[in-house]
Amino acid sequence: MKKLIGLKKFSKFYTAVFISGTGSNLENLIKFSLLNKSPIKVILVISSNTKAKGLKLAKKYNIPFKTFRFINKIKDEKKILFYLKKNKIKIICLAGFMKILSENFIKKFNGKILNIHPSLLPKYKGLNTHERTIKNNEKFSGCTVHYVNSKLDSGKIILQKKIKIYKKDTPKTLAKRILKHEHIIYPKALMKIFSNH
Ligand code: GRF
Repeated sequence: MKKLIGLKKFSKFYTAVFISGTGSNLENLIKFSLLNKSPIKVILVISSNTKAKGLKLAKKYNIPFKTFRFINKIKDEKKILFYLKKNKIKIICLAGFMKILSENFIKKFNGKILNIHPSLLPKYKGLNTHERTIKNNEKFSGCTVHYVNSKLDSGKIILQKKIKIYKKDTPKTLAKRILKHEHIIYPKALMKIFSNH
């Protein structure tokens, strides 16, 4: 984040949100970014899925979007980097984005890519987190906002919310409850990283 310090105090940081699915975090970030206090402004949506529901949300809020299927990752990432540069994007928020970005891509945006993951990282990286958490009889789960580095779900943690797992919880009920907290901590994490600037 240090490189961003020099920018004007009250101008918002242009942000791209990367999605693959429903986009509830996307909508939440868009709504947040419309508030005066928000340090970011969502101006671009990138989807790895042409049928992602989240694209309807991009349309609803009039935010330009591009879809890339990542069949040729190198080529697609090159094109994405072009759009990010063209739109003066300073921050990338991954929100239910199901592709793994290359080391080269991450290097180009080093320290400026955030992700949200529905577990108490470093526990339960990767997919099917809720199934695995419940199967292991964990008492707690939660969600984590972290910086993205070249290892999956492993970058520095910015903010985490811990919640209790109930005996009656299924992966579905747990996912639903955690998602509500995701919508609270993602904006909070953004406020946190910009609070010193
Ligand atoms: C969220 O639980 C997020 O943490 C995970 O995928 C889900 C995406 O939900 N990586 P949505 O598309 O933001 O509704």
